[in-house]
Amino acid sequence: MEKKAKIYVAGHRGMVGSAIVRELERQGYHNIITRTHKELDLTRQDEVERFFAQEHPEYVFLAAAKVGGIEANQSALADFMYENMILEMNVIHAAWQNGCRKLEFLGSSCIYPRMAPQPMPESCLLTSELEKTNEAYALAKISGLKYCEFLNRQYGTDFISVMPTNLYGPNDNYHPTHSHVLPALIRRFHEAKVSGAESVTCWGDGTPLREFLYVDDLANLCVFLMNNYSGNETVNAGTGKELSIRQLTELVAKVVGYEGAIFWDTTRPNGTPRKLLDVSKAASLGWTYKTELEDGIRLSYDDFLHNPMRAER
Ligand SMILES: NC(=O)c1ccc[n+]([C@@H]2O[C@H](COP(=O)([O-])OP(=O)(O)OC[C@H]3O[C@@H](n4cnc5c(N)ncnc54)[C@H](OP(=O)(O)O)[C@@H]3O)[C@@H](O)[C@H]2O)c1
Repeated sequence: MEKKAKIYVAGHRGMVGSAIVRELERQGYHNIITRTHKELDLTRQDEVERFFAQEHPEYVFLAAAKVGGIEANQSALADFMYENMILEMNVIHAAWQNGCRKLEFLGSSCIYPRMAPQPMPESCLLTSELEKTNEAYALAKISGLKYCEFLNRQYGTDFISVMPTNLYGPNDNYHPTHSHVLPALIRRFHEAKVSGAESVTCWGDGTPLREFLYVDDLANLCVFLMNNYSGNETVNAGTGKELSIRQLTELVAKVVGYEGAIFWDTTRPNGTPRKLLDVSKAASLGWTYKTELEDGIRLSYDDFLHNPMRAER
């Protein structure tokens, strides 16, 4: 991408989109176009077509999506499938029709099978059944990345996709029931500290192993891939490092400064025992993450405390 290239970041007010805009600006890109959800509803085909026909962005980062944790996904299966599928198809199709030079589609590691080998390589996509709790979301994301592949194969476009592990960082969603595990823990321990609660009870037994990537590192990879990668196979985005939910919980409590007891409600589900991405492909392209988890949690907690735009979507 030339520094003056016209770049559209879809979803620029979200956690990932805002990090991509920060990274592009940091690298000197200065012709970035954005639209809020209110200005442009990406599920409306006519609005999307009009926008692309008017603006003709040369590069597109597709970071807009209807996103949520297990509870949000399970309670709105149809909405998650419909909104994500329509939004992706509209944007990817309009980008192709209007001569976009390159598009990067943001997916998620939940597209991989429930019983995928660990760590999960890109090649395990569609080799067995999906996890039921986020099947609708995963099917929409798989359709998006496959549509990019099929456009490349049929029309010779240069559309790529990236599959991030669990993300966290500035502009995360701290909704009490609809957020992901790490921002949910930041909120819970912060509230427990402020209220002087003697204990906090977490779900499950704390044994599941998970991986977390700081969102600014993901944004760095997204720009790197736009400049350095072409291909039909997606690229995993993670650290390749894992820790147990119990270790994560203790780390968040330490950063937040919560000193009470932590109990585990083992009647609640644990979820998948292990979820780790194989990040050797990104490494072989010359990319690696920079932000260690404790440093990233500190930066996130600071954002939680001081960001006036703190989201509770
Ligand atoms: N968060 C994670 O841990 C994680 C992990 C792996 C992958 N990802 C992927 O990263 C991408 C972005 O996630 P995120 O965490 O940044 O989500 P987010 O913070 O919720 O941001 C999503 C953005 O998309 C916008 N949007 C949603 N529907 C729209 C529509 N119909 N028209 C226009 N804009 C719309 C939202 O605007 P409003 O808020 O105004 O609706 C929001 O700004 C997703 O594809 C997700 O799968 C995220």
